[in-house]
Amino acid sequence: MTRSADDTTGTQRGTAVAPPCVLVIFGASGDLTRRLLMPALYNLVNEGLLDDGVQILGIYRGAAGDEAFAAELVEAMSEVMRSSGGEAGRAEVDGGACDWLRARIRHLQGDVTQGSLFGDLAHRLDAMLEGKGHRNVVFYLATAPQFFGPAVVGLGEAGLLKEAENQFRRIIIEKPFGTDLASARALDEQILGIVEESQVFRIDHFLGKETVQNIMVLRFANFMFEPIWNRDHIDHVQITAAETVGVEKRGGFYDRTGAMRDMVPNHMFQLLAMMTMEAPNSFDADAIRAEKAKVIEAIRRIDPAEASRHAVRGQYVFGEVKGKAMQAYRQSPDVDPRSRTETYLALKLFIDNWRWADVPFYIRTGKAMATRKTEVAIQFKKAPGVLFRDLDQGQLANSRMVFRIQPDEGITMSFSAKEPGRKIKLSDVNMNFRYADYFRTAPSTGYETLIYDCLIGDATLFQRADNVEAGWAVVQPLLDAWAKGKDTVHWYEAGSAGPIEADELLARDGRRWLGL
Ligand code: BG6
Repeated sequence: MTRSADDTTGTQRGTAVAPPCVLVIFGASGDLTRRLLMPALYNLVNEGLLDDGVQILGIYRGAAGDEAFAAELVEAMSEVMRSSGGEAGRAEVDGGACDWLRARIRHLQGDVTQGSLFGDLAHRLDAMLEGKGHRNVVFYLATAPQFFGPAVVGLGEAGLLKEAENQFRRIIIEKPFGTDLASARALDEQILGIVEESQVFRIDHFLGKETVQNIMVLRFANFMFEPIWNRDHIDHVQITAAETVGVEKRGGFYDRTGAMRDMVPNHMFQLLAMMTMEAPNSFDADAIRAEKAKVIEAIRRIDPAEASRHAVRGQYVFGEVKGKAMQAYRQSPDVDPRSRTETYLALKLFIDNWRWADVPFYIRTGKAMATRKTEVAIQFKKAPGVLFRDLDQGQLANSRMVFRIQPDEGITMSFSAKEPGRKIKLSDVNMNFRYADYFRTAPSTGYETLIYDCLIGDATLFQRADNVEAGWAVVQPLLDAWAKGKDTVHWYEAGSAGPIEADELLARDGRRWLGL
């Protein structure tokens, strides 16, 4: 398993091995590191895409020797991979890849809020890079969001962000990037006062998902879709991200955040943008990000006085999810027992441009719901009923195309067909493409591509400052309206499809949510 960045044969689809670097992880003892980053690094090792010269330096407050820390982290990672279902789970964890990682993990004790950490880090990096032939470092901020600014300031003051020949210095920043428009702008200003935009990699892990990237390929590599991809042919679009998990142990974070900030201006808008953006001039990072920013900027601002006609907030109460009792959100650890935080949100949005004017985009996301399902459904307009005027017009269905982002990744087309028999009778039928039927799909967290892309300096799948700010600008009027505390948060039972008020949001327009 010896690999170096000069090796262009990489094992995965001829992809080149990424250049060597030290990957510094702030927040190395946290859930994100164990559950997502480490399994992603493991997968990259198995794909042969990491250079043998890669080193990993984990920073957290606790004391541990390098070896003990490395052993503990790799063990925790293996445990997560063995026990988790979903896309990242696997029955067997490969010993070779674990050894590879264990041999390269080091630990630095420290606290981002203490200035002394950055001096210690500089010394440590000097020692780790001595005689290595490069001075590349990626700083991964896997911390709570309030530490993003202080970490970048500390790194800048210690001179750790200066780039030179053979010395890239990049920062990966987790979400949420800010808590509203003003704080996102302030954070951008602070960070971009220290580093160049090209050094900043703002993560939205939905963009690492194969199926999300496939939306763009499907749209732009197949000419048959473009002529119908507009207001003339599309009746409406539904975007769903339903989860069966509740808030679990993240009450402290989630109660301050809620479904809107956690999912909408980032993940949901990425899906929306992929679906609706104009064709970029090229696959260059900036060409794509410019088109995405343009379409998000075109989303109509909701008048705060009209908030309740466009948005429905919900919070789950006790119920059963997949046969298992789930306690009410308000009874979860670290959640205010009188909390008004939404765990479900449904929105109706419009994109005010020529392609999409007047086409409603219905978006819903929630925790503790009946099913885990992330999908984008394009509902086409009905054919004129003239030929079928003798039939019950209810039989004439809208054709539909559904992008299944997860689980069971794929695409379904639904349309009307004639039922066999003497008379004309219509029936809805499905045509189904499943990723797993065509491609060898390896377990993946979505972070593999993003980490790899950062190492090779490709920012296409990362958010530029204007993308993040455009998302916040759209939702800000709603956040303002809710901050006044006047809207209602509707209850829904854990294990249900969300509050009935969300059904009314569509029923008013003569439409219905697709089943979960
Ligand atoms: C995260 C949110 O960004 O995305 C979580 O903070 C959410 O609350 C998660 O559960 C959903 O991601 P995925 O990949 O599991 O669909």
